[in-house]
Amino acid sequence: MRMLHGKKVVLGVTGGIAAYKAVELAGRLKKQGAEVHVILTEGAKNFVTELTFREITGQPVTSTMWGEVANFQVEHIALARLADFVIVAPATANFIAKAAHGMADDMLTTTLLATRAPVYFAPAMNTAMYENPITQENIERLIQQGWRMIEPETGMLACGTIGAGRLPEPEDIVQALIETEGVQETLAGKRFLVTAGGTLEAVDPVRFLGNRSSGKMGYAIAEEAARRGAFVTLVFGATVALPAPDSPLVTTVRVESAQDMREAVLKASEGADVIIKAAAVADYRVKEIAADKIKKNDEVLTLELVKNPDILKELGEKKRAGQILVGFAAETQNLLDYASDKLRKKNLDLLVANDVSRKDAGFASDYNEVKLLYADGRIEDISLQPKSKIARILLDRIEDLCAAAPVPF
Ligand code: CTP
Repeated sequence: MRMLHGKKVVLGVTGGIAAYKAVELAGRLKKQGAEVHVILTEGAKNFVTELTFREITGQPVTSTMWGEVANFQVEHIALARLADFVIVAPATANFIAKAAHGMADDMLTTTLLATRAPVYFAPAMNTAMYENPITQENIERLIQQGWRMIEPETGMLACGTIGAGRLPEPEDIVQALIETEGVQETLAGKRFLVTAGGTLEAVDPVRFLGNRSSGKMGYAIAEEAARRGAFVTLVFGATVALPAPDSPLVTTVRVESAQDMREAVLKASEGADVIIKAAAVADYRVKEIAADKIKKNDEVLTLELVKNPDILKELGEKKRAGQILVGFAAETQNLLDYASDKLRKKNLDLLVANDVSRKDAGFASDYNEVKLLYADGRIEDISLQPKSKIARILLDRIEDLCAAAPVPF
């Protein structure tokens, strides 16, 4: 098990001679399974290049706020939102001073100011600069803010002096990060059933009715559950075009229609401790699938549709004591009314309600903003953030529900 599997890390590199060690650090973080996004300051570019980090991390490297940033939604704060944690290594005295005073004059300072993720600094500089009360005061300010320091080592420095200020070896920095940010197998041995994506209902041999579900939310949930050690059966609809989750704990089952999904889900549900139905199941199917391709002979073509089985409702009816059932609701209006109705009617423990009328979240987006409705009437707002983070919050809540379940989880 790689200890930073699936973690999204922002690595900030500032302009000190130890910047060369950040190259190895990026490689080691990646080897531990992290997705590494590097931000270079202008100063850092005197020591290391964007190209080096791009090759090592396989991700775009950012060093300016003003250029085109290909993959990010809201450029200057996208990395701040995406990050599970931020590590600045090496952190120069100048950079620490800027960060300690809330400056935001480049991509890295801006990201630090905008992030809510844990932040780590690995200071590296000449001993006198490090020990200078001004630097120490700045470091103290950062610690007060809740940011953490990875202490520099004592040894021979690039300037020829011997003392504190040397950047720890990348291996040791990674180890320190794993200790606080590493994956914890809180769901080891548990069995999860997760559904994702949309079903397709055949009309004739070449056509189908479908929906816009990308499967991203369900996949993020399945990946997060596996990261926490759960065995996951992921039943996904044919609308999904995502690579299979990179974990031996996930078994995937591809289905096409709602009826196929029902069969796969009912089979896997028997042994499941937790069932999360993120799939967008077609509510109706064509009554009779045409044996041959329908020709365009008529001005108006009428398809007769019949209702599909409501899989979630069926699961709610046969729910075992201690089994946790989580549904999704996609609504374009009266979100809370419809959602709480679904929670009750389908006998759910938790319902994740999406407003799919929004353009910046939900269907096909990498981001989502949801409300969590609990069986006891509580409602929790989860602000707009990457689906990977929503998945993490959801699983934290599910772990709480499991702990409170009548049958020991
Ligand atoms: N669902 C299901 N089987 C269906 C339809 C939906 O299991 N035939 C599940 C979905 O996976 C989701 C939840 O029910 O977890 C809510 O689906 P949604 O489409 O929002 O609502 P419906 O229950 O279908 O109701 P309506 O379409 O009237 O809003």
